[in-house]
Amino acid sequence: LPKTIEWVNGRVRMINQLLLPYKLEYIETDDPFRVAEAIKRMEIRGAPAIGVAAAFGMALAALKVQERSLKETLNVLERTAEMFKETRPTAVNLFWAVNRMMAVARSATSLEELVKSMISEAEKIALEDEKANRRIGELGSRLLSDGDTVVTICNAGSLATTYYGTATAPIYVAKEKRINVRVIAMETRPYLQGSRLTAFELKLAGIPVSVITDNQIGVIMEKEKVDIVFVGADRVVGDGHVINKIGTYPLALVAKEHGVPFYVAAPTSTIDLEHDIEQIVIERRPSSEAAELFGRRLCPEGVDYIYYAFDITPPRLVTGIITERGIAYPPYPKSLKELV
Ligand code: MRU
Repeated sequence: LPKTIEWVNGRVRMINQLLLPYKLEYIETDDPFRVAEAIKRMEIRGAPAIGVAAAFGMALAALKVQERSLKETLNVLERTAEMFKETRPTAVNLFWAVNRMMAVARSATSLEELVKSMISEAEKIALEDEKANRRIGELGSRLLSDGDTVVTICNAGSLATTYYGTATAPIYVAKEKRINVRVIAMETRPYLQGSRLTAFELKLAGIPVSVITDNQIGVIMEKEKVDIVFVGADRVVGDGHVINKIGTYPLALVAKEHGVPFYVAAPTSTIDLEHDIEQIVIERRPSSEAAELFGRRLCPEGVDYIYYAFDITPPRLVTGIITERGIAYPPYPKSLKELV
């Protein structure tokens, strides 16, 4: 699989995900504003990937302002950090990564040290993400048996992270162990991360994948053999509520009704022990993104098209949460706290 995002000689290189699956093209830039723009436009998306993008963006900002004094540089970086935090509200990895970058910046004693340590911290965040996903893959692959069918939603794949993905990692590791599974990817209206991105990367990796429109999930659970559900998360709060792509909650409900285990795969950087579920902002994107398809409006002018980009799955529907430090099972307030 191609790398989603990389630091290459003082520049950031990332796949432009809006062009997939038609074109595999990269955005390469040394401009932090361009990185913020890419997150906003969803040229890069997925909770861990936008965290890494923001970290690299902060490192680019440090490179740009290095002529000034340390204090002045820190002031500029504080503003850059705010800019990144305003790109998207729901995935906690973004805030976590930017805060980590600022902590490193604040502890530097010279400009030279600041630039060096911010670049190495950003590279560390990217590498840690890849390693965490590999570990999630190892733990999650133990839940799979040869011939299983896995349902997933959105893209919590390699493209949503530095590498391996979260929900896809167990599938990739299983393949290495010659445990062959088949994936049913939910299309994931309106951005089609399932059909455009998950199907793209699984096909590239040689994993059998079928796509369904989101509204087929009930009949699929009824008629097809579904063994397990793996989804990612944009944020998991301390009591086990899972915020993930719109459609995850109905998927969890149907899985529960059919006795199909529903697992969330997420690195500990996605777990937020500081906020309650009521405090989390569920992103609402412009309704035109949902109301238009191939440049045409899907409903009469003047009718509101509601578009929440994420939903909330309550802990009672979640079988387990696979992290790089182990699998958390209910009761989540206790198991998550122990892991984090
Ligand atoms: O709006 P997106 O495409 O950024 O949403 C992505 C998701 O909801 C993913 O499931 C989540 O970020 C986990 S990615 C490993």
